[in-house]
Amino acid sequence: MGSTTARPEAARVRPSPRLRGELRLPGDKSISHRALLMAALADGASTIEGAGDGVDVRSTAGIVRALGAAVDRRPDAGRTVSYRVVSPGADGLRQPADVLDCGNSGTSLRLVSGVLAGLPMTATLDGDASLRRRPVARIIEPLRSMGAALTAREDDSLPPLTVVGRTPLRAIDYTTPVPSAQVKSAILLAGLRADGVTTVRESVATRDHTERMLRARGVPVERVEGPDDRVAVSVQGGMAVQAVAERVPGDVSAAAFWLVAAAIHPDAELVIRNVGVNPTRRAVIDVLRSMGAEIEERSGVTGSSDDGVGEPIADLVARSSELRAVELGPADVAAAIDEIPVLCLAAAVATGTTVIRGAGELRHKESDRISGVANGLRALGADIDVDGDDLRIRGGRPLRGAETDSLDDHRLAMTFAIAGLLATGETLVERPGSAAISYPGFFDDLERVRA
Ligand code: S3P
Repeated sequence: MGSTTARPEAARVRPSPRLRGELRLPGDKSISHRALLMAALADGASTIEGAGDGVDVRSTAGIVRALGAAVDRRPDAGRTVSYRVVSPGADGLRQPADVLDCGNSGTSLRLVSGVLAGLPMTATLDGDASLRRRPVARIIEPLRSMGAALTAREDDSLPPLTVVGRTPLRAIDYTTPVPSAQVKSAILLAGLRADGVTTVRESVATRDHTERMLRARGVPVERVEGPDDRVAVSVQGGMAVQAVAERVPGDVSAAAFWLVAAAIHPDAELVIRNVGVNPTRRAVIDVLRSMGAEIEERSGVTGSSDDGVGEPIADLVARSSELRAVELGPADVAAAIDEIPVLCLAAAVATGTTVIRGAGELRHKESDRISGVANGLRALGADIDVDGDDLRIRGGRPLRGAETDSLDDHRLAMTFAIAGLLATGETLVERPGSAAISYPGFFDDLERVRA
């Protein structure tokens, strides 16, 4: 057994004198969910190569199956799987016999709600204890105004969530109160089944995979960028979603752990292959560069496209760097929403004081990630203050191995494990199994890069 051991209840990580290697990541989680759901809406056979095989994506695959599509999943050579989905199309889907199990996946919960809203059936979405704490009022309100009936626990605020769909829905023009690609995508997917043009307005642009993927399936989607990061996205209702063959890029949110590992480690060079570098997802790369991280980008290996339909990809090479503090505001937080925990680790090692403002949405993820990351990094010796929704991290204190609690949250488990590559002594990560939510094989890769 190597010096990183993962038992169900705790992983022990010891520092490594050097980090080297080449990584192939799981397929992008956001794109994999969307590809499965759009395959369910399309009449015929869709193929999805290079999909993520995390527990969350499997939850969506299970839901697509429960709605009556045939879903065949095969392992690829690396960290990905390929799906073949044969669907009768949106009008042929059937009412599920049981509760639809989203497991730990907020993306399944929100996006499937949008799909169900426009189908003539009743279905209930539920999941694990963490999912039952994820807010749903943000999707109930717009989907109700489109004509679907939705009810949830605790005065319509928490799952389980029951959706009574309706065909056709009413097209709406809606401004989202919080920046959320999940909310935007739920409304756009419902908008496919509406009687006109549905528009979602965002005060801060969020990831645009749904827009690109709908266009690639023959559905006209208009995206108008306004001043101050504002965006309006419109979809034409009543258009058929075409079945396509898709290749999913590597998950930039998984790449983030290796980018930070290389940047904070004194002797590191890591090559990360086939990373999705969509402009609405790549903020973690640009924030790390602005902190002084040396990240080389060799773009466009295959299928690279920046025409608003495809997904640009790149190979990344990350090396040991001298990091400096950075100031991040709410728009940066929205752009790097899933990478903020590991960026906090980078900030803890950087010179100077990093301030992250307006990070409140992090409290509504798989755990309360503001207190979770602050407690874990503090245990390792970092100097972090939390003030409401803001974080202040005074960097440069040496990290020493300690016990950290992942709170069963995949991104916290991986953040603390990466810290263990640098911290003196032994770092204990409690409940590390959650890494498999988005990155099965993470601890194997951790072991490989230290070799
Ligand atoms: C996701 C959007 C984000 C992100 C999540 C995946 C998506 O959530 O945190 O991991 O695939 O649309 P919000 O849009 O709710 O912030």
